[in-house]
Amino acid sequence: MNRLIDRLAAVHTLSKADFVQLISSFTPETAAYAAECARKTAQAVFKNKIYIRGLIELTNFCRNDCYYCGIRRSNCHAQRYRLEKEEILCCTAEGYELGFRTFVLQGGEDPYYTTQYMTDIISSIKQQHPDCAITLSVGEQSKDTYQAYFDAGADRYLLRHETADEMHYSRLHPTELSGAHRKQCLRWLKEIGFQTGSGFMVGSPFQTPENLADDLLFLADLKPEMIGIGPFIPHHDTPFAQVPHGSVELTLFLLSLLRLMFPDVLLPATTALGTLDPIGREKGILAGANVVMPNLSPQAVRNKYMLYDNKLATGMESAQHIADLRARFDKIGYEIQVDRGDSPRIKMSN
Ligand code: 5AD
Repeated sequence: MNRLIDRLAAVHTLSKADFVQLISSFTPETAAYAAECARKTAQAVFKNKIYIRGLIELTNFCRNDCYYCGIRRSNCHAQRYRLEKEEILCCTAEGYELGFRTFVLQGGEDPYYTTQYMTDIISSIKQQHPDCAITLSVGEQSKDTYQAYFDAGADRYLLRHETADEMHYSRLHPTELSGAHRKQCLRWLKEIGFQTGSGFMVGSPFQTPENLADDLLFLADLKPEMIGIGPFIPHHDTPFAQVPHGSVELTLFLLSLLRLMFPDVLLPATTALGTLDPIGREKGILAGANVVMPNLSPQAVRNKYMLYDNKLATGMESAQHIADLRARFDKIGYEIQVDRGDSPRIKMSN
């Protein structure tokens, strides 16, 4: 197994069969070896720096009905909210003071935010904070809308592909959504010039090691600048309420494999990882991740953006506790970087 890890570190890809073997039969020893290689790889590119992004959860209204997600439209128990431009600008002003230079605007697919309103929000943030990057994560939109967001000043876009396998995709989503269209959106985002992020859940219902190998190979083909993965965690008001959560160990192992595949990718230790393990964030960093995304949403709405049960929203998770975060990373030898933290690939091409 360690030989497969060495090969991945050297040539950055493996056959599907090799990925399946690694994923289906890794041991704690293999995971530790992969983490050590991944850490070295990340340090060769990023030294001991961790990039921070302030996450603003715009809206939990969503037109979609993904079977796994707590803010799916048919969850009538979700208390819905949306933030107006002025509230968003308060969050970014506070975030700027706290040292954030990237703001991630994430939300359900909420038609209330017309293309015109979103571009107004984007250009207002850019006007107030010209030295900051804006990342959007507002789902599937038309190519023209993506272009309008980009022209208004948005720099990056996160859209997880969720699963690369069309059959698996159709078991997680209603028929009006397709994996093919989601992949089309990702290609548009790249064409337009966004630093693009994709990713998937680990341990989502019906997922097989083959599915995960396909996810890795899909990413090898897409070559995103950012990759977000986290364990699936059930939400009590969804059809998958009774499905057990994904494994923290497998998530960490996949983070290491992704780091070895993409030495310069921006790879967050996600909230879902921190939700299942009190030191999940640190474990993620030690497995090769190099980004964290503390929550900057207004306190009053934080417990409403519930994609899954027990999602962290306060404590370490909160942007206001950045000093705690800094201290915790300091303990493991890492340092928070205060700048936009663009993909090294973009910097090189500038
Ligand atoms: N568990 C873990 N992650 C989830 N997401 C949505 N629902 C869940 C869940 N139950 C993830 C999806 C989505 C991102 C915003 O959150 O991958 O792309």
